[in-house]
Amino acid sequence: MASLKNRNFLTLKDFTPDEIREFLDLAAYFKELKKAGTPHDKLRGKNVALIFEKTSTRTRCAFEVGAHDLGIQTTYLDSTGSQIGKKESIADTASVLGRMFDGIEYRGYGQERVEALAKYAEVPTWNGLTNEYHPTQILADMLTIREHLGTEKGQKFVYMGDARYNMGNSLMIGCAKLGLHFTACAPEKYWPNSELVEQCKEWAAESGGSITLSSDPKEAVKGANVIYTDVWVSMGEPDEVWAERIADLTPYKVTMEIMDLAAENAIFMHCLPAFHDHETTVGKEMGEKFHFDDMEVTDEVFQKYRTVLFDEAENRMHTIKAVMAATLGYEK
Ligand code: CP
Ligand code: NVA
Repeated sequence: MASLKNRNFLTLKDFTPDEIREFLDLAAYFKELKKAGTPHDKLRGKNVALIFEKTSTRTRCAFEVGAHDLGIQTTYLDSTGSQIGKKESIADTASVLGRMFDGIEYRGYGQERVEALAKYAEVPTWNGLTNEYHPTQILADMLTIREHLGTEKGQKFVYMGDARYNMGNSLMIGCAKLGLHFTACAPEKYWPNSELVEQCKEWAAESGGSITLSSDPKEAVKGANVIYTDVWVSMGEPDEVWAERIADLTPYKVTMEIMDLAAENAIFMHCLPAFHDHETTVGKEMGEKFHFDDMEVTDEVFQKYRTVLFDEAENRMHTIKAVMAATLGYEK
């Protein structure tokens, strides 16, 4: 783990396949300790700041519980209760936090904000989601694939929906590095940018994986081992985009018909939160306005794969714990 100590965790682009697998192995180790009730609070005395300019359930709880299990104290900062961005620049905030904390998590808008934090804080800085990337989510997803399918390498992975945002980008990078066969399935305007696609193709060539772009859901999902989707409108996007997204992405909804075309052992995954019924304010409002019961995934598919989905959510905690531990110098 020596190569991971004092590193930032801003995007998986910065890590070799072996380093990514080190995070996964460490997460699996921590998961076993947690299940056995074995204490692993060797980072007592450390403090980390958790900055959330966007809302969160899983990521915030994963950082807080993961930190506390490691013996680390946490301080939560949101955009309303701190000076960040409004009265103090990211650079100045980072310089303050770097004097007090051993590590910093940031969730918010452009990737340049977390990069600036890392640059000026000079302590390990972790990306808890930006518009461009969501790297901690990918570790949880890969651990879940390992647990349910035995290994991540060689799996046929199809991402349906808005593939040019944080989840599509980060899954493509993770799959390319770890040797999965990744397909982004969406109308062409929702494909990841061509520069990133080319870079991922190079990594895939080295790892034994591949990258495919498709607009044909029925063709793309044939024989898939993992079908993955995310919300059609991400945090921070304006309400005006809903109508266009629904029109563009409805053919890419994950339905039982889609799952039936996949491999026999296929699993459905989603980073969550998901719009699969009317049990949320937004789901109800949009469902009533646009006349449907669900959005990116039907409730039938969601309920069938509940175990996978909530294993995936649980794995956020074990993998985020591994990221903090490895970069803060935890010794097994
Ligand atoms: N998947 C994920 O990042 O969930 P939260 O937005 O609840 O943190
Ligand atoms: N694309 C989603 C991911 C949520 C975990 C968003 O940015 O809102």
